[in-house]
Amino acid sequence: MSKKTSLEMEVKDLDLWYDTKQALKKVNMPVYKNKITAIIGPSGCGKSTLLRCMNRMNDIIDKCRIEGEILFDDKNVYRKNYDVVELRKRVGMVFQKPNPFPKSIYENIAYAPRIHGIKKKKSLDGIVQQCLKDAFIWEEVHDRMESSAMGLSGGQQQRLCIARALSIEPDIILMDEPCSALDPIATAKIEDLMRVLVKDYTVVIVTHNMQQAARVSDYTAYMYLGELIEFGETEQIFENPQEELTEKYITGRFG
Ligand SMILES: Nc1ncnc2c1ncn2[C@@H]1O[C@H](COP(=O)(O)OP(=O)(O)O)[C@@H](O)[C@H]1O
Ligand SMILES: [Mg+2]
Repeated sequence: MSKKTSLEMEVKDLDLWYDTKQALKKVNMPVYKNKITAIIGPSGCGKSTLLRCMNRMNDIIDKCRIEGEILFDDKNVYRKNYDVVELRKRVGMVFQKPNPFPKSIYENIAYAPRIHGIKKKKSLDGIVQQCLKDAFIWEEVHDRMESSAMGLSGGQQQRLCIARALSIEPDIILMDEPCSALDPIATAKIEDLMRVLVKDYTVVIVTHNMQQAARVSDYTAYMYLGELIEFGETEQIFENPQEELTEKYITGRFG
């Protein structure tokens, strides 16, 4: 890791309850700038919950209660009057199942910039082209910009969704199991894309696929039953885990 590490975000003593069920327990975790952080752990351990806290997507869940802090630019995103709209502009998200809008390929990318006030066709064209290029999908779609995004393959749809996330110029891109609905070739393309994107963005990815975490991430967080058991450089976590629980999981002796 050549580039100097600096903090982009910091999770501090984060507790989360869904009604009476505690899903996150005193989670502390740094998110480093221009790095890929992978969150791994068995199903139900709280990976998606933790990821959603980073752009306050849990706000929309009924009976969800949060204590603790997430610092972003030295401000707690959970403090009163924090601008959540601005937060979601700066912290974009890509979901497990590709979810393009049922609109044209062009509209999928132009939609958010237009809402944010960019009206000129020429400017929008430029943004659309750049985002599609940055998400490695321009070559495949440039001659059918007016076709429905729903006609694309799953892997193409997911790259389109990444392009859409880029269109709001975020600092951080959150990805929740972005490859779990894709075949190995489409998965490899997304993994390659992540390594390129991380030069300009900070990426946090949830994956149940340990090989994927080992392949793409710089840092890995291992979660179990709502607790963050171990965090470290990916190589260290996989080759020299300090916690027995981590070792059990990564060697497949879990359960
Ligand atoms: N909207 C919700 N309402 C109630 N419980 C939830 C909700 N979402 C997740 N949970 C529970 O919180 C725990 C963590 O879930 P989740 O973050 O989705 O885990 P993971 O992504 O690691 O599989 C699980 O026990 C799950 O059942
Ligand atoms: Mg999940």
